[in-house]
Amino acid sequence: MTGPNPSGSRVAIVGTGHVGATAAYALMLRALFREIVLIDSNADLARAEAADLKDANALARPARIWAGTYADARTASIAVVTAGGATHGSQSRLSVAGESAKIVTSCVDELIGAGFAGIILVAANPVDLMSLVAFRRSGLPSSHVIGTGTLLDTNRLRQELAVKLGVSAWAVEGFVLGEHGDSEVVAFSSLRVGGLSMKAFASPSPEPDRSEIARKVREAAYEIASGKGYTSFGVATAIVRICEAIVRDEHAVLPVSTLLTGQLGIGDLYLSLPCVLGAGGIERVLIPDLSSAEAEALRRSAAALAEAGSSIGI
Ligand code: 2OP
Repeated sequence: MTGPNPSGSRVAIVGTGHVGATAAYALMLRALFREIVLIDSNADLARAEAADLKDANALARPARIWAGTYADARTASIAVVTAGGATHGSQSRLSVAGESAKIVTSCVDELIGAGFAGIILVAANPVDLMSLVAFRRSGLPSSHVIGTGTLLDTNRLRQELAVKLGVSAWAVEGFVLGEHGDSEVVAFSSLRVGGLSMKAFASPSPEPDRSEIARKVREAAYEIASGKGYTSFGVATAIVRICEAIVRDEHAVLPVSTLLTGQLGIGDLYLSLPCVLGAGGIERVLIPDLSSAEAEALRRSAAALAEAGSSIGI
């Protein structure tokens, strides 16, 4: 198909493993796109997932779903890159950086070679380094190369606090920042629950133990992976939320991985800060109020990422 494609009409999912297939399913149910093309180096897998999704689409808002090639991604408004190295059990995301970098480089080369000029949403791990690879390789503006980043960790934080405090996760407003990984930082100082500080909301009970909460959020993926081998629903839903903010031009504020250009003294790296997201991708990067310990932890997170990146030539 050629010719102009109005924003939001086509999404390309690159990589149809657990995350890509679940994201495609969730995007189909949310009816954000009229066309969903699945691309995988294993064409049989992509065809099978597309066929399965088509069955499900009979009871959802009609969409055109097919297994295609990078040529089909040319007019997509968003390409979601999920292809990368897989982590198992307690394996850290950074440990698959080298393998993922090769895969993401090849996917981005194929996309750009096919004439894709939309927004690349990277979900492959380690997502911050892979977003940097995609940004540098694609030549697209940084506003158009976004990593799912700590939106997932932020959702885990909101859910954890919701249970602990007996309140809806929607009432928990706060962010996990930095690396989507072991050095991530929970910004407790700017966290609000129903507009109150966590301590005020919990009162007269003591507030939940901060280091215990941060540990649970940080280790959530390892716990899930030790049971089912991988994680999929959480990140797939984060993908949907980011696509939604873009397609509906919401100007929503979400913590996603973006190119830092000197914020908090960090530059030339992708990591998560709250960003304003709309049709133009990342429209603004916000610097939240942080305690000096949180700001310092973010700089350490950046240093850990930079070191991991340089060890594999990123
Ligand atoms: C997650 O946090 C593994 O990055 C993936 O679920």
